[in-house]
Amino acid sequence: MREEKALFIIFGGTGDLAQRKLYPALFNLYRRGHIQKSFAVIGTARRPWTDEHYREVVADSIRGSVDADFYTEAMVENFADHFYYQSHNVNDTEHYMILKKLAQQLDDEYEIGGNRVFYLAMSPRFFGTIAEHLKTQKLVTDHGYNRVVVEKPFGRDLATATELNQSIEKYFPADSIFRIDHYLGKVMIQNITAIRFGNSIFRNLWNNRYIDNIQITLSESLGVEERACYYETAGALRDMVQNHILQIVSLLTMNAPVSFNDQDLRQEKISALKSLKVYTPDEVAHNFVRGQYGPGEGVHAYRDEDNIADDSAIETFVAGKLEVENMNFAGVPVYIRTGKRLATKATRIDVIFKKMPTNIFPGVALTNNVLSIDVDPNEEITLYINDKDYDTGFKMKQLPLAYRNQNRDCPEAYEKLLHDLLRGDATNFTHWEEVKYSWQFVDAIRSAWDMETPAFPNYESGSMGPQAADELLARDGKQWFFDPTKTN
Ligand code: BG6
Repeated sequence: MREEKALFIIFGGTGDLAQRKLYPALFNLYRRGHIQKSFAVIGTARRPWTDEHYREVVADSIRGSVDADFYTEAMVENFADHFYYQSHNVNDTEHYMILKKLAQQLDDEYEIGGNRVFYLAMSPRFFGTIAEHLKTQKLVTDHGYNRVVVEKPFGRDLATATELNQSIEKYFPADSIFRIDHYLGKVMIQNITAIRFGNSIFRNLWNNRYIDNIQITLSESLGVEERACYYETAGALRDMVQNHILQIVSLLTMNAPVSFNDQDLRQEKISALKSLKVYTPDEVAHNFVRGQYGPGEGVHAYRDEDNIADDSAIETFVAGKLEVENMNFAGVPVYIRTGKRLATKATRIDVIFKKMPTNIFPGVALTNNVLSIDVDPNEEITLYINDKDYDTGFKMKQLPLAYRNQNRDCPEAYEKLLHDLLRGDATNFTHWEEVKYSWQFVDAIRSAWDMETPAFPNYESGSMGPQAADELLARDGKQWFFDPTKTN
C-alpha cells in the first residue's frame, strides 16, 4: 500500500461537513493504510477549542459513522492523535502566521515533505480572503504540492461563480483547485464511464439511433432539515441540478474520451455541458416544472418549517426536459427530477432504449429495453430485456437481469474523493469550464422563474412531486420508468 503524505488544513474544522464526512473519510483512508504515519490535520474555526476537545470530537464522529466491525478504540485514538486545533479568524493576518508556524512544525514532526491540502469547508464568501492569505503569508510550500479543495455552493449564478473562481485562481494555479461534487465519488456514478466505454454493446447503442430517452431521479424523503438559511437562497435548482444532476448528464451524454485520464475525460464532459440547449423563458415554461412540498403524513409543509418564510417561493422540487445538442444525443430527451419530501430516498438513472422497429410476435406487447443504474441506497445495475415466459405457448415478459453490490465495506464518496485528491487525480472533480456551462444553463431557468410568483405549495409530502412532472413526459408519450409509489 502506498502511503500518501499530507498536511491537511481544514477551514471549518468544527462544522457539520467536517464531522459527518471528512473525519470518517480520513479515518477510512487511515485504516486501509492510504495514510499512515506521515499525515496531520489542523482544524481551524472561530471557536476556542483545545487539541484534546478537538480529538474527542473527531473520535466521536468516527464512532458515530463507521461500522464498529471495522475499527478498534486504539485505532481511533491513534488516528485522532494526528489532529490539532487552531482557533482562527480568516480575516486576521496574524492568525495565518501562527498557522504557518504550526504547519511547519507538524510538517517536520510527521515528515510530511511539504504536501499541503487546504480544505475550504466554510462559506464561499471567505474563499478569496483565505486563498490570498495562504499565498501572501506563505502557507504554501515550495517543496511539495499545495492543493485547495472547495466545497459547494460554487457561486449562486454564473457571475458570482466567475468572481469566486477568479478570487482563488489569482493565488492558486487552476490545476491545484479541486472542486468537490460528492456525487462524483459515488461508485455507481463512477461506473457510468465503465459501463459506457468498457462494453461494446453499450458503446454501439449509446446514441440517438438506439436510445429513446434518459431519465435521472434524485429523490429525497427528508425535508429541508436544519439548513433553512442556505436553502432559502438556493432551492433545488441550485442545490441539486446545477451540480449533481448536470454532472450525471455530462457523464451519460459525453463522447468517448481518447483515454481515461482527467484531462481527456474533462474535455468531453465540458463539450457535453456546452451542448446543453440554453432555454428561452418560453422554453423554460414548457420544459421545466418547479414545486414546493405541502404537508404530508406527520410532516409540515415547507413554509411551516423552522426559519422558512410563510410565503417562500423557493422550490424544493424540479423536473425538466433537457436537450443535448451534439451529434450523438440530439433528439434524445433527458428527463430529470429531484426533490425533497418525496416518496423515497433514491438516486436512479434509467436509460430507455427504443422499441423494436417492428413486432413479429402476434398478440404480444414488447417493452423497451432499459438499463437502470441504482446509485443510492442500493448499488445495483439492471438490464431489462424481453424474455419468453417459461411456459407452453408464447408469451413474453420483462426480465430484469440484475447485479447488486453486496460489499459492506465499499469506500464512501468522500473517502474516494480524498484519495484521488492525495494522488493528484482530478478525474472526479469539476473543472471551472464545467461549472461555467452548468451555471449558464441554470441561470436561464432561474431568471425565467424569477419573473413569476409560483403557486406553492403544489405537491404533497410523500408523493413524487407535482403532477406537472408526470405530464412533462406524458405529452411526449412517455412516463417515468422509476415509480416508487407503485408496488411491483
Ligand atoms: C447535497 C445537497 O449536495 O446533496 C443536499 O446540498 C442533499 O440538499 C444532498 O440532501 C444529497 O446527497 P446524497 O448523497 O444524500 O444523495
